[in-house]
Amino acid sequence: MRADIEEILYSEEALNARLTELGEQITNDYTGKPLTVISILKGSNIFTSDLVRKINLPLKMDFMAVSSYGNATESTGVVRIIKDLDGSVEGENLLIVEDIVDSGLTLKYLKEILLTRNPASVKICTLLDKPARRKESVNIDYLGFEVPDGFIVGYGIDYAERYRNLPYVGILKRSVYEK
Ligand code: PRP
Ligand code: MN
Ligand code: MG
Repeated sequence: MRADIEEILYSEEALNARLTELGEQITNDYTGKPLTVISILKGSNIFTSDLVRKINLPLKMDFMAVSSYGNATESTGVVRIIKDLDGSVEGENLLIVEDIVDSGLTLKYLKEILLTRNPASVKICTLLDKPARRKESVNIDYLGFEVPDGFIVGYGIDYAERYRNLPYVGILKRSVYEK
């Protein structure tokens, strides 16, 4: 798999250090408030799992699965809900956790949907932000890193469902997807 990677952007150590900072910030901001972390599957799975262990609060977790890309490299513009939340979020402070914001379509859609369910608040935490290809503006409350406009994989992020298990964030070689 490493042979398919052009460049490692964030190593395991760099990710761990940034997550510790984000966890502290979120802990401070949500102390005394009912917090539900909403992980957006599948990409956010690994980031969420590591992040929640750095938040020192009695939070709840729930999961939504949405997909806008399928196996394509470009967003189709249509966001599909594959799995909805299990429980009511009324009165809860929601923290949507995403792996990457690219066009912004996924998060714009998710935030709109969640706001209709009467939560106390909705905020967004994303590990990565790729502003180069934004189509819908998204207000990011907690950000790990801003990334350049390459094809990003690893640490949960896939290309055609592969590379999610890389322990680092890297850029995929063009030769892998330009065939
Ligand atoms: C990817 C990524 C984000 C979204 C970002 O998910 O994990 O959820 O796309 O793109 P956007 O800002 O252009 O909407 P994808 O739809 O590939 O599903 P996955 O998480 O299951 O891989
Ligand atoms: Mn995703
Ligand atoms: Mg994907």
